[in-house]
Amino acid sequence: MASRIGILTGGGDCPGLNAVIRAVTRRSLDRGSEVIGIREGWLGLVEGRLEPLGYREISGILPRGGTILGTSRTNPYKTDGGVERVLHTFGENGLDALVAIGGEDTLGVAASLHAEHGLPVVGVPKTIDNDLSATDYTFGFDTAVWIATEAIDRLHTTAEAHNRVMVVEVMGRHTGWIAVMSGIAGGADMILIPEQPVTVEQACTELRRRHERGKDFSIVVVSEGYELTYESGERRAVAQEAQTDQFGHIRLGGVGDALGRDIEERTGYETRVTVLGHVQRGGSPTPRDRILATRFGLKAADLVDAGLFGRMASLQGDAIIDVTLEEATRELKTVPPAVYDVAKAFFG
Ligand code: F6P
Repeated sequence: MASRIGILTGGGDCPGLNAVIRAVTRRSLDRGSEVIGIREGWLGLVEGRLEPLGYREISGILPRGGTILGTSRTNPYKTDGGVERVLHTFGENGLDALVAIGGEDTLGVAASLHAEHGLPVVGVPKTIDNDLSATDYTFGFDTAVWIATEAIDRLHTTAEAHNRVMVVEVMGRHTGWIAVMSGIAGGADMILIPEQPVTVEQACTELRRRHERGKDFSIVVVSEGYELTYESGERRAVAQEAQTDQFGHIRLGGVGDALGRDIEERTGYETRVTVLGHVQRGGSPTPRDRILATRFGLKAADLVDAGLFGRMASLQGDAIIDVTLEEATRELKTVPPAVYDVAKAFFG
């Protein structure tokens, strides 16, 4: 039985992180274990920044967005002596186990540290992008979809009042989960995502068709990771800066503006663009995310207690099970064509 459990949150924050921290801590303390919070993801283990978590620290955090531990995109494998420093901090502080709450990057590091150095780590899947394999859903996603859907609803009324095309750019670095789900929920007239090679020309044809049928406004949802694709075969990714972070990711954002200009030029319809950005990651989690995060947190504490390391809590159907970290980080979960087809039935 583990007696001193470290816990960290890494990568982009998302609503529900505090609910996991609360559940892991509460169940572990109730079992007589100590819980140690690690500041700002892997950076806290690289730099030795730790703080004990007790009942008092986790009181009232269930509905709070962000993370009381802070987070970062630090990759110990890309930091000088990073892995050695992580292992040193872990040993020096007498930790018996680690709960890593993160997405593909944070859990990828956890998987490698487990496989290569036997680090006793358990993972919890988080990301608003919902692109982690081996779990049906990650927490944070439901809140992001809720926020994006609300934005689409609001844009509908102003779009209709002015006879405009409204382009809404949502997050989703590699996949279009937020775009498709909020687009279906909000009744989008066109949805562009990285997984589907819909061209700008095709999108404009659908919009024209809709306007010819008597509709004077349209809602277009575009995922930040969609590459502008043209009939000529040209493809263009839009990013805010080309410099990559320690996990090799560029900072996306801006495809909505480029698409909006294209649509206006090609159709002549007055077009406006809204970029939702980090609004999708802020604020209080939905009840669904609070519940999922809580269930994941309890499962992670149970895996630690059972000494089942190198594993991740996962949702399959309505059951919380566990899978290997290796399986969870092997490939990204993309939007299946059948789900996109639901959205497509309402295009144009
Ligand atoms: O991975 C979650 C996410 O919100 C992506 O959708 C987005 O591309 C990225 O993080 C933004 O990262 P940052 O917070 O570093 O700007």
